Amino acid sequence: MILTIANTKGGVGKSTLAVNIAAARAILGKKVWLVDGDKQGSSQTAILIRSEANIEPGIACSHFPDGPVLRTQVLQQKDNYDDVIIECGGRDSTAMRAALTLTDYLLVPFVPGSFEVWAMEDVVNMVKEARSIRDNFPAYSILNRADTNARSKDNEDMVAAMSEYAEEIPVLEHMLYSRKAFANAAGSGRSVFEMKLKAHEKPAKEELEKLLSILF
Ligand SMILES: Nc1ncnc2c1ncn2[C@@H]1O[C@H](COP(=O)(O)OP(=O)(O)O)[C@@H](O)[C@H]1O
Ligand SMILES: [Mg+2]
Repeated sequence: MILTIANTKGGVGKSTLAVNIAAARAILGKKVWLVDGDKQGSSQTAILIRSEANIEPGIACSHFPDGPVLRTQVLQQKDNYDDVIIECGGRDSTAMRAALTLTDYLLVPFVPGSFEVWAMEDVVNMVKEARSIRDNFPAYSILNRADTNARSKDNEDMVAAMSEYAEEIPVLEHMLYSRKAFANAAGSGRSVFEMKLKAHEKPAKEELEKLLSILF
């Protein structure tokens, strides 16, 4: 399946999620291709770190910030993989538009406090545009880097803001909390399943596991 992780806004965890999900699926024996459609190219950098460290299983990776290139390549190559994970971002991203014409599933991460109306509106408009030219496809927003402090209202506030766009992009019931393990794993092209975690970081594995069970 093709899974797109996108948000016009940066710093919301697109790369962190893309790499964790890609590596987690690879461990399950899936043939995975990570397509980095973000100009930044940080997912691609992470996967290259993985391959340079000879970590098995390997993950195929490409960097296609240009929409038409991404579209042609993904159309041509997708059947060679079980999972194609596409990351895209940036406000005028042609890669995002291209990915939305192909994807089976869209995940839009947000972090608490990251809500700026334009970001969600841009994404919603792109989703509408894509849905006008193709079959409907599931699209969900997800709260990432959620505050682990149970007394904080930040998570609730952010979910409420995200919910304003629920008609087009409903909010996933599940969230990923702020845990160094997600960041550390993704930085080296791995998933939290490949990391030795300190006791308080261990819930990261369950959080990712649950996300995978929702997506695949
Ligand atoms: N669940 C998380 N817990 C802790 N840190 C996170 C989490 N998700 C992302 N981060 C950190 O937040 C920053 C932005 O994440 P990144 O994946 O690069 O965002 P994007 O790709 O959307 O720009 C990075 O420093 C990353 O390590
Ligand atoms: Mg990124």
